[in-house]
Amino acid sequence: MGKKVHLGLIYGGKSGEHDVSLQTAFAVMGELDYAKYEITPFYITRLGEWRVGPMLAGKPLAIDELRLDPADPAAAQPVPAFPLAPLLDRLAGGSAIAGGGQPIDVVFPLLHGPFGEDGTIQGLLEIADIPYVGAGVLASAAGMDKITMKKIFAYEGLPQCVFRYFNRAQWEKDASFFIMECEVALGYPCFVKPSNLGSSVGISKAKNREELIAAVDFAFRYDRRVIVEEFVDAREIEVSVLGNDDPKTSVPGEIAPSNEFYDYKAKYVDGKSTIHIPANIPNKTADAVRDMALRAFLAIDGSGLSRVDFFLRKTDGQLFINEVNTMPGFTPISMYPLMWKESGLPYRDLLDKLIELALKRYADKQTIDYGGSGGN
Ligand SMILES: Nc1ncnc2c1ncn2[C@@H]1O[C@H](COP(=O)(O)OP(=O)(O)O)[C@@H](O)[C@H]1O
Ligand SMILES: [Mg+2]
Repeated sequence: MGKKVHLGLIYGGKSGEHDVSLQTAFAVMGELDYAKYEITPFYITRLGEWRVGPMLAGKPLAIDELRLDPADPAAAQPVPAFPLAPLLDRLAGGSAIAGGGQPIDVVFPLLHGPFGEDGTIQGLLEIADIPYVGAGVLASAAGMDKITMKKIFAYEGLPQCVFRYFNRAQWEKDASFFIMECEVALGYPCFVKPSNLGSSVGISKAKNREELIAAVDFAFRYDRRVIVEEFVDAREIEVSVLGNDDPKTSVPGEIAPSNEFYDYKAKYVDGKSTIHIPANIPNKTADAVRDMALRAFLAIDGSGLSRVDFFLRKTDGQLFINEVNTMPGFTPISMYPLMWKESGLPYRDLLDKLIELALKRYADKQTIDYGGSGGN
């Protein structure tokens, strides 16, 4: 039998999606085939400190072991920060850590939101020269920042809702100008969001001027830039994309939020949102969303995986792209894996495929001349 692939799983993290990440890590660890993989867990606390666990060669960690420190289950206490140099050394297979780590072949960053899905961890892994699952630096950052993402979609001619945006200084200087702009271009209700976040954190629906101002102030708690969008009364359709330069799409799914909109509670807490896979939509519409999902994935230079989300307007069936999520929810009951399951690719095979794509992307990049050899 060939050598096992040594997989580094990074999970937890400083973002609001810390707990979701733990659930994902638990599911992935439980599902991986230990005949093929050995796994080293890397846990990032809520404070951003790193803990490295022992290599798992046969069985996953229990859910309460994931924090790699049973004495500190909530990880609320500051622990000495893990210095970055030995950590990178460990990732890259050096021996600075007691016991000397086996080199990691590929990393699976199971992190959502800021510092995980936004290109920062991807940059770290690029510098450490380690293959990793999923989107690279550019696609991660572009997919995380709603303003940037929408500008890229606009260039591709992808239909999307009307929006306006501003930064804090602009708003403080001339709020009345932006209020007027939003009222004229978008009307009420409108959606107010921090540009760079996920999981519906900081998002509100504003029904009048007073609510708009409160919503903007609220969104500024989470980012320096805010985007305001017209309200689209729509069904929410999603598609999974998998691949690198020649990606494939799954059957589309539909999610019917339990709340007025698909907010954090509807996503993660109450479990009452209903999903339909495949989505009950005409074939023509399914084809259109799959085609648009591919275009969006390629537009941000995606790799590995992405879930692309759409609004299907109720009044006239018009499609709008909402966003690309480069690290979508990834537990076995999340939309991304479920849409693949329905398309004939079960969770375990999906994990294999993602790891294979990461190694492939890394190998492809080795052929690039970065100019170090002199060029011209
Ligand atoms: N312009 C909009 N019109 C109608 N509903 C919206 C609009 N924007 C967001 N929503 C609702 O809010 C949810 C979260 O918004 P989204 O932009 O997807 O943020 P996140 O990146 O946090 O998932 C959507 O799934 C949808 O239910
Ligand atoms: Mg969303």
